[in-house]
Amino acid sequence: MSDQQTAAHVAERAETRWAWVVGIVIATLLCMMAYMSLHWITMPPQRMETVNPGTLHLAGEFVEANLGSAAEADGSVTVRLVGNQYSFSPQCVLVPVDTPVTIRATSADVVHGFSVTHTNINVNLVPGYVSTFRARFRETGEHTMPCHEFCGVGHAAMWAHVKVVDKETFARQAQSKRRLSCAERS
Ligand code: CUA
Repeated sequence: MSDQQTAAHVAERAETRWAWVVGIVIATLLCMMAYMSLHWITMPPQRMETVNPGTLHLAGEFVEANLGSAAEADGSVTVRLVGNQYSFSPQCVLVPVDTPVTIRATSADVVHGFSVTHTNINVNLVPGYVSTFRARFRETGEHTMPCHEFCGVGHAAMWAHVKVVDKETFARQAQSKRRLSCAERS
């Protein structure tokens, strides 16, 4: 084999090898897309729960007196909150550490964002729908809770807090009040 033929042979082998690599990468990505599409297509209907945004304050689960954190009989905590232009109710969410927490939230007007910094809690609050999220806070401390969806001129000022306290502190407060928050006015 001449030098030229050898070089051509080496180049061809390298090209074939890289063609396989690219082919495998593309096939992997297509499989991931197919899997996620099939997996996610079943999720929105399962989670869909509607509520009338016009009567939130009048009756039902999201009346003002029912907002905040509730200790459940099974030891978990349910947090109910409402987003509206331009604040959350309650403005400070109180939860115990290392406890299963179910967050149930909705919007009274437009679409708001609900996220808790340094956690994976990130959901949109859409008027007419209840957003549900399960979480567990591993450490005590404070988190900020900004609205991350542009919702009008006051959007940048729309944010609240999450305060994670030890279980005993939470249980003590839960004995004297049905719904807890750490907002000043409550
Ligand atoms: Cu509410 Cu941005």
